[in-house]
Amino acid sequence: MALMDVLIDELRDMYSAENQLVKALPKMAKGAKSTELKDGFKLHLEETKGQVLRLREVFEHLGKKPTGKHCEGMEGVVKEGQEALDEDLDDASFDSGLVGAALRTEHYEIAGYHACIGMAKVLGLKDVAALLKENLEEEVNAAKKIQAASKGIFQAATQEEEEDEDSKPASKKSAKDKTSEKKSKEDEKKASSDVSKKGTAAKSKSAPAPETDEEETADDEVEGDQG
Ligand SMILES: [Fe+2]
Ligand SMILES: [Fe+2]
Repeated sequence: MALMDVLIDELRDMYSAENQLVKALPKMAKGAKSTELKDGFKLHLEETKGQVLRLREVFEHLGKKPTGKHCEGMEGVVKEGQEALDEDLDDASFDSGLVGAALRTEHYEIAGYHACIGMAKVLGLKDVAALLKENLEEEVNAAKKIQAASKGIFQAATQEEEEDEDSKPASKKSAKDKTSEKKSKEDEKKASSDVSKKGTAAKSKSAPAPETDEEETADDEVEGDQG
């Protein structure tokens, strides 16, 4: 059955993702300056180990082995977390970077579990769906806790000294930073003709939506994800 094959593939991806996080979360916990964030990462590490075990149960139900696929997406997200850990910033600013990385991680997982649960339901795999839902709920709660902790962290970061990265002389930038900057310009260039077509189309509309509406929509989506 084709959908079953896709589900197994997605689940193996999740299994790899969770295992990668078992290795990454202790680094986040060690690096975090705020106690709330640090404790949050420690707690979620324990939950994550439980999620790995739950996924093994899922594979037992399906009579398949859990390994077979490496999650490239999570590897990238974990790398971005490492970049945040490598930053030399004041405490709250440093933690703000960790918040960004951690929220990306949780929402990546949330998306993966939503897809797997949807497939399991259609395939009539109730036990599998129930186990996956337990993992999903932990991810949603983890994201909520990070967001709750982030309010004080972001506020504190506004009091810290600004460092103007853009005015840093090229000689002071690392090779990695230079490559990243170059690639970001390539990203922009490759998309630019498509984006300007969209810009022209938007301008020709008689009543464009005000900016505030867009922000509200984005907020609603975040809330919806977590609820
Ligand atoms: Fe997880
Ligand atoms: Fe998670």
